[in-house]
Amino acid sequence: MRHIESMFRLSVDDCRAILRISKLAKARWAVGDRPALLPGRIMTLVFEKPSLRTRVSFESAVAHLGGRSVFLTAAEAGLNGRESVADVARVLGSYSDWIVLRTFSQQLVEDFARYAGCAVINGLSDSSHPCQALSDVFTMTEVFGTLEGRSLAYIGDGNNVARSLAVTCGLLGLGFTIASPLGYELSEEFVSRLRQAFPQGRFQFTSDPRSAVSHADVVYTDVWASMGQEAEQDLRKRAFAPYQVNADLMKRAPAHARFMHCLPAKRGLEVTDEVLDGPQSIAIPQAENRMHVAKGILLWQQGIEDV
Ligand code: CP
Ligand code: NVA
Repeated sequence: MRHIESMFRLSVDDCRAILRISKLAKARWAVGDRPALLPGRIMTLVFEKPSLRTRVSFESAVAHLGGRSVFLTAAEAGLNGRESVADVARVLGSYSDWIVLRTFSQQLVEDFARYAGCAVINGLSDSSHPCQALSDVFTMTEVFGTLEGRSLAYIGDGNNVARSLAVTCGLLGLGFTIASPLGYELSEEFVSRLRQAFPQGRFQFTSDPRSAVSHADVVYTDVWASMGQEAEQDLRKRAFAPYQVNADLMKRAPAHARFMHCLPAKRGLEVTDEVLDGPQSIAIPQAENRMHVAKGILLWQQGIEDV
């Protein structure tokens, strides 16, 4: 079963296959084709947190491919204690070809993968956001042609998006530098797992955003307080203030560098309007690509490589 619980689950070949299929799917879409390659297939989405891109990109992707989707909040699915996780997973899996989960706990994704009996996709948990990272490297291949020798500088919180990007960079041989304030770095446990998985990986960990961007092809940021951390917003604003991606920081990056953000953005906090709406920003095409890469993921999971 081709689950995507986190990026650690995928091999280099898996990643390359998903990127290749996504490219074919996007080319078909660009000429107005909606090939019904997955007729009658059902995707069930179970979300504990809000979503714009992940929900709509997956629901659009499956509809374009001839399938259907069913959306449930976690409470509607019974994950609020109505019945056991294993029972919900087994029952939903018996109706579905894929289950896309957006959760707080990574363990819930792992449990679904264990019990559902259909392909399970992590549509964001507190610890990872693999579909975002896959889509982001897809966007980078469009901009740079090849990922060979490229580097991404992530400025901000060592969160779910940062973790999945780090693993994806390790898998595909990209450099990954992260600049985080004290107390908000990637955890030691994660970093040691990363180094163990990719002993040749080009990883750098710093607290200095200016040095982090100095050789970057992509400057990337995400919100300072993720979903579920709203109560820490004020505390985090103070800690992260020197980590804002603004015009001054972008000037420290090479002139060809692009700006990326997974969105949603808190404008005026982690990024200024000037950068997010500026000529180096590719945040909107980056968001569009979530749908094309969703198709790549769905087709790959069903063993369809020819679009
Ligand atoms: N980037 C992303 O996952 O966006 P949503 O939270 O809107 O799905
Ligand atoms: N780190 C953010 C990503 C949103 C797509 C969050 O978890 O809220």
